[in-house]
Amino acid sequence: MFSQKFSSIVLGRHHLKPASARSLARWAAAGSGSSRTNVCRQRTRRLQSSSALLHPGARSASNTTVDPGEVRRFQLLANKWWDEQGEFAALHAMNDLRVPFVRDNLLNVHRAHHPGKPLAGLRILDVGCGGGLLTEPLGRLGADMLGVDPVEESVSVARLHSSQDPDLRDQVSYRACTLEELSEEEEEQQRAAQFDAVVASEVVEHLADLETFAISCNHVLKPGGSVFITTINKTNLSYVLGIVVAEQLLRIVPRGTHDWEKFISPEELERLLESNGFSVQSVQGMLYNPVSGAWSWTDSTSINYALHAVKRSDSPEDGSLFPEDRAEATNG
Ligand SMILES: C[S@@+](CC[C@H](N)C(=O)[O-])C[C@H]1O[C@@H](n2cnc3c(N)ncnc32)[C@H](O)[C@@H]1O
Repeated sequence: MFSQKFSSIVLGRHHLKPASARSLARWAAAGSGSSRTNVCRQRTRRLQSSSALLHPGARSASNTTVDPGEVRRFQLLANKWWDEQGEFAALHAMNDLRVPFVRDNLLNVHRAHHPGKPLAGLRILDVGCGGGLLTEPLGRLGADMLGVDPVEESVSVARLHSSQDPDLRDQVSYRACTLEELSEEEEEQQRAAQFDAVVASEVVEHLADLETFAISCNHVLKPGGSVFITTINKTNLSYVLGIVVAEQLLRIVPRGTHDWEKFISPEELERLLESNGFSVQSVQGMLYNPVSGAWSWTDSTSINYALHAVKRSDSPEDGSLFPEDRAEATNG
């Protein structure tokens, strides 16, 4: 099966399953037990129908980003987060690029007032924080960090690890939940958006529904807030290097970590963000050298890339793209 898939990808004969059918099936399987407010249910129904009209064939909104298979996979790896030579070594090394990427782009917008703590005063949400590999260094730069992940075991590891550093005690906190649950909490409590930035590094390729992710990002961000994403492009090269070489041959990441069908091109991600109230500022290619174990920036986005977008000023303040929801929010 593996060689059949490999040859069909290399020869360009890979056929994708309809993404919308997959998302809806996952929604039926995963979302049935969760309680939603009527407003949220109505909003979701409107979102599903408008999304289908606006983006025929696009990924559909299923109201949950959670793919239960992904959660199970990361549950089994939860005790590996802080092994710098282990399964997550490439994520540890990626901090050399992604921490300055987030810091410098935020400093372009927010001037630093605290020497040594350039991100002081900024509240950042790390979505899919895992063991806190990126949450911690951003906290050390002074940001007020909240890390969220649906895998409770990972959140426990992240809490325990950060509690060992007194400098992080007031900087970093964690919750076992999803972005959309946070967003719905804000909506239910009618709280103003609280985050200056959302970071989702190596996460979107594990989500069941990217439209729900984009809408929820918009909702939790202050006007002008930033979203930072690193992920894997959907190319033949990313299949060969990201799955065949990295997972099957060199075992840089555990086998089965990635599903090529969930990879997304920078163009598709840009379209998704632009149609959900964001303006994409930059997209940069990233390259991993398996021999040195180091990442570097590259002009090519054909495998890994980092993206920075900001919430547009014409984006509705309550994050809703539907006038009737904004009216409901205003009228209480
Ligand atoms: C490859 S890891 C990246 C972890 C972390 N961002 C880092 O770079 O160190 C992907 C993470 O996404 C999390 N994840 C999976 N589904 C998610 C969802 N629906 N919402 C948020 N995080 C999710 C996994 O539990 C895992 O921690």
